[in-house]
Amino acid sequence: MQSIITDDLRLGYLDIEIDPTLDLVAEINKLKKEKNAVILAHYYQESDIQDIADFVGDSLQLSQEAARTPADMIAFAGVHFMAETAKILSPEKKVVLPDLKAGCSLSDSCPAPLFAKFKEKYPDHIVVSYVNCTAELKTLTDICCTSSNAVHIINSIPLDRKIIFAPDKNLGAYLIKKTGRDMVLWNGACMVHEIFSREKITKLKHQNPEAKIIAHPECEEPVLALADYIGSTSGLLKFIQTDAASSFIVATEAGILHQMAKVCPEKTFIPAPPNNMCACNECPHMKRNTLEKLYLCMKYEQPEVILSPQVIRDARASIDRMLEISERAGLK
Ligand code: 13P
Ligand code: SF4
Repeated sequence: MQSIITDDLRLGYLDIEIDPTLDLVAEINKLKKEKNAVILAHYYQESDIQDIADFVGDSLQLSQEAARTPADMIAFAGVHFMAETAKILSPEKKVVLPDLKAGCSLSDSCPAPLFAKFKEKYPDHIVVSYVNCTAELKTLTDICCTSSNAVHIINSIPLDRKIIFAPDKNLGAYLIKKTGRDMVLWNGACMVHEIFSREKITKLKHQNPEAKIIAHPECEEPVLALADYIGSTSGLLKFIQTDAASSFIVATEAGILHQMAKVCPEKTFIPAPPNNMCACNECPHMKRNTLEKLYLCMKYEQPEVILSPQVIRDARASIDRMLEISERAGLK
């Protein structure tokens, strides 16, 4: 499969020294205008990137925005599979990302050739894939989902149809519990969400008894069992605004705390600790993107996401089905 091809170029221009006196925010804003570009950023990006973005959102919102933007160029501040999804939805636009190596452990855990063999064992199953997967995996998928529409997507499938769910076993197990559907699960996981420590979260709760625990469904079941609310990043963000509690222990990537503090400055947000020495949990892939790299990718329009027309066509069907079901359900 032809995928992103511009590694050499990227390595070349990253050696370019940026003048330290340059006002990067002003330069990026200038490039946005000059190139009719839009910056889409995920909630797990560094705060300075979230603040300069035209649109900050979860995976579903970012794909909806990529599909409707009138811009000529999309600078995608997120990870590789997200930029690919934007390209699939807007193939006529140039899609660039700040760092080509911003990958995803969950996406990596499900290589398409291995999945194709796995799928052969279940010929009568419908394939639902979490959007956190490669474009190639999406070509083997019937319907995509994100964490904010997954329950709707599973519930939209007739009860007599059997389902394979890939690649996240934790989200899959959560969906089995939530929908009552028996699904065959691929054995993948997110390196960020699977290392939250149930013991440390329990200790934090004892120290902050008034705090509500909120968690992303990519977390393992023992952590989800502690949660007062489980949802996608946008779901968590909505919950803290509508719930009466004034403090929250947040079990997802720490980048979301920036938006939480912005929308509810009077509330307290405590990042849930992982099972290592760190106090909070960050995605090393998301954090590869920096303001400097965002500036360079917009200036040089590299690295660019390039996918073959066949991959775009075959992968798009699964994303379009997801977007149609989400629209019918009024999910945004
Ligand atoms: P959402 O923002 O869709 O909840 O996804 C979380 C995530 O892990 C993205 O990589
Ligand atoms: Fe992938 Fe997990 Fe990072 Fe999201 S947080 S990009 S699922 S590794």
